[in-house]
Amino acid sequence: MPAISFQSVSKTYSTSRGSFQALDGVSFDIEEGEFFGLLGPNGAGKTTLISILAGLVRASAGKVLVRGHDVQADYAQARRQLGVVPQELVFDPFFTVREALRIQSGYFGVKNNDAWIDELLTSLGLADKANSNMRQLSGGMKRRVLVAQALVHRPPVIVLDEPTAGVDVELRQTLWQFIARLNKEGHAVLLTTHYLEEAEALCSRIAMLKTGRVVALERTSDLLKAASSNVLRFKVDGPLPPAFEGKARVTGRIVQLPAHDAHEIENYLAVIRQAGLRVEDVEIRKADLEDVFLDVMSEKGQEAVA
Ligand SMILES: Nc1ncnc2c1ncn2[C@@H]1O[C@H](COP(=O)(O)OP(=O)(O)OP(=O)(O)O)[C@@H](O)[C@H]1O
Ligand SMILES: [Mg+2]
Repeated sequence: MPAISFQSVSKTYSTSRGSFQALDGVSFDIEEGEFFGLLGPNGAGKTTLISILAGLVRASAGKVLVRGHDVQADYAQARRQLGVVPQELVFDPFFTVREALRIQSGYFGVKNNDAWIDELLTSLGLADKANSNMRQLSGGMKRRVLVAQALVHRPPVIVLDEPTAGVDVELRQTLWQFIARLNKEGHAVLLTTHYLEEAEALCSRIAMLKTGRVVALERTSDLLKAASSNVLRFKVDGPLPPAFEGKARVTGRIVQLPAHDAHEIENYLAVIRQAGLRVEDVEIRKADLEDVFLDVMSEKGQEAVA
């Protein structure tokens, strides 16, 4: 039985300006013990899909099961299986960190949970903030509390909606170590993030959403294999010739170009030299998930994966 099963999920929001379709027939399964990445640009529908999973938003069509429990028909059972870290920072300012975690435990009917709460606090670098009020915490610390809250009842399925947004480098590493450990112990993880190097390092399988449709769904290693194998990266002292339009990714003076082989790389450099431009700091690297992502989002936009 899959940890999560999305079955033809669609969502249409009604707004004052008419209706808006945020999800259009999304179907895929996440297996028990899997570390799964859900990627997509802003507005693709990731949070909408997670909100439907968490029972916070109703799907317009389709079904979502958590370990066999329908999130609508069998809400309480489905919700108990899930630990959800929301994208938005929502918290009650009147409680201390420890009180908030005790209340959350009570909500799930877990008693005498202090040993696990202490482990969560330590693992997430919050031990010295246990007795601070929520409103006294910085943004990154509040996000850590949200992670702790989601895990307080040891859910078999962990859902993280951009857990590292606004979180410093050190905690990101601590957080990933901790989540990776839980995953090793058998917890399934569904992660959304805009840090694609995190997704590449952590997720064994990835789905990409674009305007509410699944446009890629593969093992991470297969996604990387399918990408054009190399990227030519260099600095240039003027605007690129028109031939590069739509091919090159330009950030200030830095240019990155997908290239399949040495011949293609030589050609690119020759065209640039003929245009009278000077290149510096030339580098050839393997394509990474960010290259694949940009590729998928630009080309495959219209044709969705079945
Ligand atoms: N309550 C709502 N009413 C109307 N439209 C909504 C509502 N919530 C989300 N949307 C719209 O649905 C689309 C998907 O939003 P969603 O938050 O799911 O995107 P996302 O993939 O999580 O984006 P991000 O990466 O920015 O978090 C967006 O166009 C958004 O404006
Ligand atoms: Mg979102």
